[in-house]
This record gives sequence, C-alpha cells and structure tokens, in this order.
Amino acid sequence: MSIYLDNAATTFPKPPEVAEAMFNFMNNIGSNAGRGSYSSSLETSRIIYETRELICELFNFSMPENVIFMPNITYSLNILINSIIKPNWHVITSSMDHNSVLRPLYKAREDMNIELDIVQCSSQGVLSVEDVEKAIKPNTRLIVLSHASNIAGSIQPLQEIGKLCRKHNIFFIIDSAQSAGVLPVDFKALNAHAIAFTGHKGLLGPQGTGGFIISEELNKIAVPCIVGGTGSLSSSVTHPDFLPDKFESGTQNSPGIFGLNAALKFLKSIGIETIKDKEDKLCSILINDLSNMEGVIVHGLKSSKDRTGVVSITFENFDTSEISFLLDHEYGIMTRAGLHCAPLAHKTLGTYPSGTLRLSPGYFNTEEDIHYTLNSIKKLIVR
Ligand SMILES: Cc1ncc(COP(=O)(O)O)c(C=O)c1O
Repeated sequence: MSIYLDNAATTFPKPPEVAEAMFNFMNNIGSNAGRGSYSSSLETSRIIYETRELICELFNFSMPENVIFMPNITYSLNILINSIIKPNWHVITSSMDHNSVLRPLYKAREDMNIELDIVQCSSQGVLSVEDVEKAIKPNTRLIVLSHASNIAGSIQPLQEIGKLCRKHNIFFIIDSAQSAGVLPVDFKALNAHAIAFTGHKGLLGPQGTGGFIISEELNKIAVPCIVGGTGSLSSSVTHPDFLPDKFESGTQNSPGIFGLNAALKFLKSIGIETIKDKEDKLCSILINDLSNMEGVIVHGLKSSKDRTGVVSITFENFDTSEISFLLDHEYGIMTRAGLHCAPLAHKTLGTYPSGTLRLSPGYFNTEEDIHYTLNSIKKLIVR
C-alpha cells in the first residue's frame, strides 16, 4: 500500500501525458529554442510559445511575451522582488506567507533599506482587508501575498486587496503556489501587477518549472538581475530590454516546459472546478473525521470551501514527526511534518515551534485513501 498525501509540496502522480511529452522532447526533439533556424529548434520554440499562451489562458492574461519561465516560484519571487524594489519603499506582506516571500523581503530590508510590515492574520490563518489598509503608508509601493496558505489552506481576500492596491497606487505581486490549478487566479480581476507560479504543484507539471507573468507597468520599472545569452541581439554586449528575453537568460528547461505544456492541457480538459470539487470532498471527510477524533486538533477554517486541499493537525499526546514517520513506516502513507517553510504562519496558528502534520490530498487520491488514512491515524493514537 502506498498513499501519497503531500500534494502541497509537489503533486504526485502527474498525468501520464506529462512524462510522455518530456520523453518525446528528450528522444525526438532535443534542440534549444531560439538558438537555431532548423526544424527541431523551431519546434521547441513553438511549444514554449504555446505554453506561454496556455499560461495566459489559465491566468486570464493577454500578453504571451510577458510570461517568463523560471525554475520554480522561489526563483520567480526573488527575481521579481529584486528587479523592482527600490530604497525607501514601504512593503507589506502577511504572517501566513511562505519563506519564498518572506526571505527575499527580509533580505531586501537588509540590503536596500526598505521598510517592511508583516500584517498579522487571524488564528485561523485569514488576512483582514481592513488590517492591510491600516498598514498602508504614503511610501507603500508594494504588497506581496500568497493566494492560499500552504499550512492552513486559507484563501486570502486578494480581490479586495487588489482594489486597495489600485486605489493607493501600489504594485501587487501574488504567490499562486497553492492556488494555481485549483482556484481561479484571474490577473485582471485581482488587479495584479505580477503573478508568480510554480509548475510542479497544482499545475501538475514537472519539478524545475515555474515563472511569472508581469504587467507592462511593473515591467517598466524592472531592472533584471540576471543577464547573459538569450539567442537575441547577439552582436550586443548589453542585455535586451524586451520580454521575455529581458528575464530569460541562458538555456531554458525545455523538457520541463514540454511537460508543463502537457500538464496545462490536461488541466484545461478536466477543468479546475472539477479538481477543486474533488479536493473539497476529500478534505471535508478529513476535516470532519479528524475534528471528532479525541486527542487531535485540526487547525484553520473548518469549511473545505474556504480553503485549498491542505489539512494541518496536531496531537495532544503525540509528536507530529513521530506520527508522520509511523504513517509512512507502518501504513505506507506519505505526509509531511514540521514547519513547511512558513515559520510565521505557525506562530499565527499557535503551532510554533513544533509545527503540524500536514495532509494534502490531490486530484488522484480516492475516498478509500482518505478512510484508510483516518483509520491508520486512529490506530496509532489509541494504542
Ligand atoms: C505558498 C508557497 N509559496 C512558495 C513555495 C515555493 O515553491 P517552489 O519550491 O516551487 O519554489 C511554496 C512551496 O511549498 C508554497 O507553498
């Protein structure tokens, strides 16, 4: 028996088409995009461009050239933040954000003399729009927020915060790591200036893929921090200023992007509502049963509709790492214990420093998987 319940870290399994597309690239195509005029190089360029279009469709975005590919969302957030941030800016984020947002901002505070405010979320992991508005100052120029928490699954009110950003002329960057592929993430409706994404979680693509989409307004003030060969303007020793080349230096992860292309087509054929419905169903069984289990504390909101497929629990009498280890060792159930790269989120939920046991089902899990997991937890904590 082998049950994978760590989809918030990376989704598994992937749709079979993903590996097939990567295999096809590695065995039958193999060439770099934008570096040759022969047919296999053109085919690589075509698939990469088509993948930009699929990303546009997913995020209701209209400029494929403004889709930038990166190895993951951590790189995307670092490149975005470091390319745009200016000294003396006041920047806002939240206490539920991941280290991929917090660490680049803390570093910018040290290196660039910016002011940083971390707005405290509720003990259920929810951000208040009023609290964000109260934190805005005359020099607030940037808000960076995760759409959904990787610890509590709480979905943040980004549409209202986007409106605040518009009203106060603030740039708005969204970390969609836990929402893309599961929730609608609409660039226009959210009033976003950039959305960073990772390919290997809800998008069901391979590791090593991700990127960001960027508005013209934000791109205008961005100075890329990585430059080099782009296959364009090769006679010049200075870097091109047009997109996507401005941010995409060096050889692309073409096998990964071929896999991501297939994953995005799979998502489109299934529909993200179907995926969210399935995850809601599995999570509500988990939340209901675990809430009624003696000695188990379920953290965050109780309704699966208000959260993504992430259920964090602690035990009155057991260490989360011990239960996670035993679930794998004795029952073949893969979960994750600890702080999940979001220390402030645990301080917010009251689960710092020991962290939580995180169960994150995905589209390919079944109700049987969930019942087996619940029974296994019961057996471990009553013996
Ligand atoms: C909310 C959030 N942001 C960022 C990341 C980092 O993702 P990646 O490792 O793909 O860069 C994660 C991954 O756990 C996450 O959950």
